[in-house]
Amino acid sequence: MLLHPKTPNTGAPGSQFAVSERRKIAVVPGDGIGQEVVPEAMRAVRATGAAVEFTEFDWSADRYLRDGTTVPPDGFAMLARDFNAVLVGAFGDARVPSNIHAKEILLGMRFQMDLYANVRPVKLLDSSLCPLKAAKPEDVNFTIIRENTEGLYCDVGGVVKQGTPDEVAVQEDVNTRKGVERVIRYAFDYARRNSRQRVLMTDKSNVMTYAHGLWQRVFKEVGAEYADIEKQHMFVDALCLQMVRDPRPLQVIVTNNMFGDIITDLGAALQGGLGMAASGNIHPGRTSMFEPVHGSAPTIAGKNLANPIGAIATAAMMLAHLGLTREAEKINAAILEAVRQRKVTQDVGGTLGTRECGEWITELVARN
Ligand code: NAD
Ligand code: IPM
Ligand code: MN
Repeated sequence: MLLHPKTPNTGAPGSQFAVSERRKIAVVPGDGIGQEVVPEAMRAVRATGAAVEFTEFDWSADRYLRDGTTVPPDGFAMLARDFNAVLVGAFGDARVPSNIHAKEILLGMRFQMDLYANVRPVKLLDSSLCPLKAAKPEDVNFTIIRENTEGLYCDVGGVVKQGTPDEVAVQEDVNTRKGVERVIRYAFDYARRNSRQRVLMTDKSNVMTYAHGLWQRVFKEVGAEYADIEKQHMFVDALCLQMVRDPRPLQVIVTNNMFGDIITDLGAALQGGLGMAASGNIHPGRTSMFEPVHGSAPTIAGKNLANPIGAIATAAMMLAHLGLTREAEKINAAILEAVRQRKVTQDVGGTLGTRECGEWITELVARN
């Protein structure tokens, strides 16, 4: 079955479930606007009538400042054992300048639960949302698959002679054959599952000859197994230009952790901003984690200003991943209608607050 393009087929473990089986979802709203947008996502999910059971966890800056806990002992094992998916808001709080809680909770989930494919769709819902001149929804419809467990995010490095004129700071870019191969393979499988014809690998192999030389070799080797999919390559600087000048040829992009982080914010801008962008952190067959692309947005937090659509679309992605595609499509249809009727927040040209936008979408979901 062909899914709604905003409801990507992420390699759903859906078939593992009996039709009416209750899905257990762990919810971690986190900090700032995470605490405002996640309740809206939960409301929309409930309105679909999906058989889901939410369990909330207070892992956040507040909890860390209260008792020093980021993730309780055995927390990641508990998530993997007791839940079918995890729905996350955002982390980041000025009261924790080291950002240690965000690192331990968010990067902890990605690394400890080995969620190696970060799937971030870039799908324009309405021309009015796109900063590109005359771009139509069909012109901006691609997915970025970001490696999520390696690269510059491994926290390998060090500083010597700190605070002296001879200070040296080193941050290592870790790329393993296994890690690169599995995410590239995921991208090709994703293309097949979602009826896309092309996969583009982006790197900086003209400069990062060792690390990205590995990406080049693996992309060629793995790509040879997918005769039906066209293979393309671009350097990441040129890809940024392409994304803005003409995103039409882009379908599936695969890249390393850091480049993926950067180009997915650019991708968010093409969809109307960070408030619109959804993502999934996937290890096929294991408990996976779903979070909007945006952060905790401290300057608008607590003001009922945050756009809940990124989080609501993220919840739809999660439902589709769990095999609840009809429910996911109900949510995506309601989001599309909210955008068309401008029943949205200020960042995307509306006048509604976070709760009012969430409520409007929820009511439409419940009616359909
Ligand atoms: P951010 O995504 O929080 O905000 C960037 C800009 O986008 C701000 O102008 C913000 O107001 C706007 N924005 C973001 N989400 C929005 C929404 N839903 N509706 C309307 N506007 C929205 O990124 P930042 O400002 O670079 O970082 C703030 C904090 O969040 C930092 O502590 C950072 O480390 C953290 N962060 C966390 C995540 C995550 O948890 N996944 C992602 C990015 C940043
Ligand atoms: C993202 C964020 C995170 C990242 C931060 C908050 C660690 O920017 O999810 O895009 O860099 O991956
Ligand atoms: Mn980011």
